[in-house]
Amino acid sequence: EQTIQDELISSIRTIKDYPSEGILFRDITTLLGDARAFRRAVDALVQPWAGSKVDQVAGIEARGFILGGAVAHQVSSGFVPIRKKGKLPHETVRIAYSLEYGLDEMEMHKDAIRPGDRVIVVDDLIATGGTAEAACKLLRSMGANIEAAVFIVDLPDLGGRGKLEAMNVSVRTLVE
Ligand code: PRP
Ligand code: HPA
Repeated sequence: EQTIQDELISSIRTIKDYPSEGILFRDITTLLGDARAFRRAVDALVQPWAGSKVDQVAGIEARGFILGGAVAHQVSSGFVPIRKKGKLPHETVRIAYSLEYGLDEMEMHKDAIRPGDRVIVVDDLIATGGTAEAACKLLRSMGANIEAAVFIVDLPDLGGRGKLEAMNVSVRTLVE
């Protein structure tokens, strides 16, 4: 009997030396292409919210869009895209965050969240947590009540979970 963890892990492909030498890249496109694994991952991500109200799912560009749309459908919520700067057409709020090398900025529409909205943040993977931390700060600056941040994969050596927990965001991940 295969556990859901085993099934998800075996559906994720690992690419050596991508995008640079020494990196083991966890590639979820193979999970997305596996109908059963994709459904099980989405169902497992939102299991704690079965029967409770979620107002918005916030997905982080780019892989968080793929999962976030499916998650929003599953919990019958709206979807809010959190995008790399310059991509959203209306008035935005913006935040800078650090990547492995250098800085980037992400933004969301100012009117995407109503104060008090119950929001789940979705991405495929948490590494250092810098990306998700910035997304949570942006959402809170607009009055969001963050229920949790959810990810398929945690890379625990990089400490991302602790970064979110330190700002009182609960974290749900499916595999390490
Ligand atoms: C990856 C991943 C997360 C982030 C995790 O996205 O999908 O969003 O990095 O890293 P962190 O926890 O160290 O911040 P990436 O920045 O590669 O963007 P992409 O999805 O647009 O390719
Ligand atoms: N896979 C996908 N995205 C990532 C990874 C990874 O291994 N590390 C940091 N972002």
